[in-house]
Amino acid sequence: MKITVVGSGFVGQTTAMRILEKGLGEVVLIDIIEGKPQGLALDLKEASPVEGYDPVIVGTNDYADTAGSDVVVITAGFPRQPGMSRMDLLGKNAAIMNSVIGNVVPGSPDAVIIVVSNPLDEMTYLAAESSGFPKERVFGMAGVLDSARLRYFIAEITGARPSDVDAMTLGSHGEAMIALPRHATVAGKPLPELVDEDTLEQLFQRTRDGGAEIVGLLKTGSAYYAPSASAVAMVEAIVQDTHATLPVCAWTTGQFGIDGVYVGVPAKLGRKGIEEIVELDLNDDELSKLREAAEGIRAKCADLAKL
Ligand code: 2OP
Repeated sequence: MKITVVGSGFVGQTTAMRILEKGLGEVVLIDIIEGKPQGLALDLKEASPVEGYDPVIVGTNDYADTAGSDVVVITAGFPRQPGMSRMDLLGKNAAIMNSVIGNVVPGSPDAVIIVVSNPLDEMTYLAAESSGFPKERVFGMAGVLDSARLRYFIAEITGARPSDVDAMTLGSHGEAMIALPRHATVAGKPLPELVDEDTLEQLFQRTRDGGAEIVGLLKTGSAYYAPSASAVAMVEAIVQDTHATLPVCAWTTGQFGIDGVYVGVPAKLGRKGIEEIVELDLNDDELSKLREAAEGIRAKCADLAKL
């Protein structure tokens, strides 16, 4: 399997590292900055004798090297700066996304594209539109990350092992993120039986603000360990054709009463991308929040079309 990672910032480089360490395939790490992807690739190769993985990575500035990719993970884009409006960020990253797609698609017409760049939901829509790929081969990473944060916060407060906590977030990667307490369990026990309503709400709010909490601490950038772990969980489901159900930003075609918009929903992933959107049993409140999140994303995508 050939996996291209576009963008060699912290998310891109840790994504490349995790793919190598898990032995998921050959990696092409590409960036416009000369020397950076080459230097990172060499560094990762030099770690291979110690870590014991195959040093199958190329660092490059040339899209010709990405030809024939099975999976393309797009992490390129600017982070938000003080004083910058959302439309400024949308515009700048939209231009980057269009250029990346224009460069990557001709050589890899059959690839599955995973979008990681922000604003996530809108960038996923743009990548799909601009590639012209079937929508089941273009989707975004946010739900695995948001759910991982929620699972960790639940583990922290209950004293459980993080991997024993199951919880899922849907909706958008931002304020309209939806946590599903009825579906959350700690070592099999329903979460609402273990913590009170106020605590639940605090956990959910901390999850919605999870990205900002890290930015506030780091001051000069945003999170990358949990984002890259989450992107690689999706890569793994695809290249190993596991049919795992993960929350991803996917194109809806009537599921949950939502049609023709990208939004965070549970989806079964395999070699060809999204195999099926899994229609969890949601109550009226959860459904209306999910539809609201979808309409918010639809409106932002319409703004994007005006740029
Ligand atoms: C995050 O949530 C920046 O979207 C990224 O950490």
